[in-house]
Amino acid sequence: MDREHELLGLAVSIAREAAALARAMRTAGVDPVATKSTLTDVVTAADRAVERQVREAIRAARPGDSVLGEEFGTEAGGGQEVRWILDPIDGTVNYLYDLPQYAVSLAAEVDGTVVAGVVINAATGKEWTAVLGGGAFADGRRLSGSGQTDLRQALVGTGFGYAADRRLHQAAVLAGLIGEIRDVRRLGAAAIDLCLAAEGSLDAYYEKGLNAWDHAAGGLVAAEAGLLVTGLSGAAPGPDMVVAAPPALHKGLHDRLVELDADKGP
Ligand code: IPD
Repeated sequence: MDREHELLGLAVSIAREAAALARAMRTAGVDPVATKSTLTDVVTAADRAVERQVREAIRAARPGDSVLGEEFGTEAGGGQEVRWILDPIDGTVNYLYDLPQYAVSLAAEVDGTVVAGVVINAATGKEWTAVLGGGAFADGRRLSGSGQTDLRQALVGTGFGYAADRRLHQAAVLAGLIGEIRDVRRLGAAAIDLCLAAEGSLDAYYEKGLNAWDHAAGGLVAAEAGLLVTGLSGAAPGPDMVVAAPPALHKGLHDRLVELDADKGP
C-alpha cells in the first residue's frame, strides 16, 4: 500500500472513532461551554473532547507527526514528516441545535500538500474520502461533481463567518449573486459543503474566511472529484476565498466573485 493510502486508512479509523464520540456526546446533551471570536462563535465540551481523542490517537500511531486542530492549535511532533489538520466538529452551531450537518474533518499534509483526507458527517455516518491523485469517494462510490454547465441554473453553497462586519460584507456579495443563480444553500458546515459539491449535490460552493481545518480534507475531496478548488485571481484557496466548482462553472462564478470584491473587506 502506498503512503497516501496508509495515511488515509489511519485518518478514516481515527475519524470514525471521533464521529462516534461526537454522536454519543450529542445524544447525552450539549451546552456551549465558551465563546471564541464573537458571541456567536461557540465551542462545546464535545469539540474539545473529540480533538483531544484524535490528538491522542495520532500521537499513539505516529508520534513524530504534528497536528493543527481548531481548538488547541499547533502541536509540533519530533519528525515533522506529516502534519494532520483537524476540525473535530465542523458545524458546531448545527451540533448545538442538533441539526444533522456536523462533521469530523481530518487531513494529512506532507510538505505543505494535502495528500489524504476524510470527512464524516457524524450525525448520519456518511463518509467522504480522497487521496491525492487517487480520486474521491463517498461510501465507496467514485465522485465526479455536478454536470451543470449554466451558472444561472447552479445551486450554490456558501457560508458566513462569525463576526458581524464580515457577515455584512458576505451578505452584500450574496445579494449580488443570488439573482443570477438557481438558488443558494447555507448548510452550516464547510467541510460537508465541499463534499456535497464533490458529489454534485451542490453545483458549486464558495466562502470567504475559512481556516485550514475547514477546507483541508473537503478541498481535497472536491479537487479529486474533478472540481477546481481555488482562491480568486490566481490565489490558492485560503482565508480570503475558497471557490470549488466544476470547470464549466468555475470561471463564471470566479469572475462574478471578483467583480463583487468577495475576497475583500473584513
Ligand atoms: C464553521 C462552519 C460554517 C462556516 C464557517 C466555519 P465551525 O466552522 O464550517 O459552515 O460558514 O465559516 O467557521 O466553527 O463550525 O467549525
